[in-house]
Amino acid sequence: MSKKAIIFDLDGVIVDTAKYHFLAWKELAESLGFDFTEEQNELLKGVSRVRSLEILLDIGNVELSQAEKNKYLNEKNEQYLSYIAEMDTREILPGIPELLAFLKAERIPFALGSASKNARLILENLKLLEDFNAIVDGNDVSTAKPDPEVFLIAAEKLGKNPEDCIVIEDAFAGVQAANSAGMTSVAIGDPEVLIGADFNLKSTKELTIDLARQLIK
Ligand code: BG6
Ligand code: MG
Repeated sequence: MSKKAIIFDLDGVIVDTAKYHFLAWKELAESLGFDFTEEQNELLKGVSRVRSLEILLDIGNVELSQAEKNKYLNEKNEQYLSYIAEMDTREILPGIPELLAFLKAERIPFALGSASKNARLILENLKLLEDFNAIVDGNDVSTAKPDPEVFLIAAEKLGKNPEDCIVIEDAFAGVQAANSAGMTSVAIGDPEVLIGADFNLKSTKELTIDLARQLIK
């Protein structure tokens, strides 16, 4: 059995929820009177909900009281939850079902390392909750990505050394977190954004069994 393990980010790696986060933040920005582009959205990927709002407000040059921020955080999440309520297994990203099946067959442990506080709900909708050997999400950490905490806790739960863990991420903050944890980082998305990753892939379609074999060797 390989001594390696895989740690998956959730949003944008297992499932295409990144678009729903973007839509919900964009609606909030527009209600506050400014535009929010997909390019700016890259800054929010992998980042906690609270930090995302701070970045968004900086972009729009808007200052709010704590009470107003709390109200908007709730509203954004309600909007996001309304999008993901309808989600099912069809929204699992290409290549992921085959990869998870391979890891299970080869008995390679895998964990979730996500910033989202909605991670368990999403995995349940996707019928993947029971498949993960460990789940670490936004409710389990005190420091958000790019801090390595989420991945280090995941490695500990799997009983693996950080250097034996491979992290799959779609966010720059997540690649930084994986690198600071001393893990191998596999980035999915634009290589010009996802700088510093050990491997750059354009989409989850490139997460093939051949690549998995190479990574866990
Ligand atoms: C990350 C997403 O996975 O989770 C971010 O990439 C998001 O965009 C963060 O802000 C927190 O998610 P949630 O579901 O707790 O609002
Ligand atoms: Mg992500």
